[in-house]
Amino acid sequence: MSTDNRTKQCQLILALDLEDRESAIKLLQRAGNELQWVKIGLQMFTRYGPDYVREIADLGKRIFLDLKLHDIPNTVAKAIESISQLPVDMLTIHTCGGKEMMSNAVASQQQTAPHLKLLGVTVLTSMDAASLNEIGLSRSPDEQVLSLASLAEESGMSGLVCSTHEVGKIHAIHGDAFALVTPGIRPTGSEAGDQKRVMTPSEAARVGSDFIVVGRPIYQAANPKKVVSRIRDELLVS
Ligand code: C5P
Repeated sequence: MSTDNRTKQCQLILALDLEDRESAIKLLQRAGNELQWVKIGLQMFTRYGPDYVREIADLGKRIFLDLKLHDIPNTVAKAIESISQLPVDMLTIHTCGGKEMMSNAVASQQQTAPHLKLLGVTVLTSMDAASLNEIGLSRSPDEQVLSLASLAEESGMSGLVCSTHEVGKIHAIHGDAFALVTPGIRPTGSEAGDQKRVMTPSEAARVGSDFIVVGRPIYQAANPKKVVSRIRDELLVS
């Protein structure tokens, strides 16, 4: 049970960060039907494009398209109109594009793709206080995350991508306004790799994540299907 008494089930998303289309399709076959959600990022989308998204969706997967859009409001709204032609369930945009950009994005989504969840990216985890300072932002990364989260709620965004360590604070301020999607997950016993502050799937579910994003522990496993199954079992009892 999650610490905030929510009854929603936390769901697993596989980050499909593979080198090429063939490896990705092969992995999905090996991962089995229990895996429902797949994240497609910039690397694969810029190589293989919209057809690749359709191909993965045709395998029965729901798609989280992680393109982190950031441009003038009209351009982002038009990009969302284009994406509405694709079988995509969740899409990321940068909250630092501002309230007008996010509001226009939400209006475009509501008009063209009512089922699509728009998720805001706040501060990239590759940025610390010094790199925020370099681009003229004097707030701490934490303050910046919370400030952008408030702008996202005011703009009508459906969710946020954030660290598991930020979930509690976001819930405390915004209640259940957002679907919260959290990377940085490591099942017990798997390598952290370059992820610094990790949580296990059950810890992430307990703090209130709605979706966890897991890449390497699944696609580098000898038996990806077994890892998917174990993570899903862990989420079920959380
Ligand atoms: O392989 P791993 O489980 O670390 O993959 C996590 C996925 O989540 C990758 O696609 C990574 O780019 C993404 N991600 C992240 N940390 C963030 C935002 C996205 O690890 N802050």
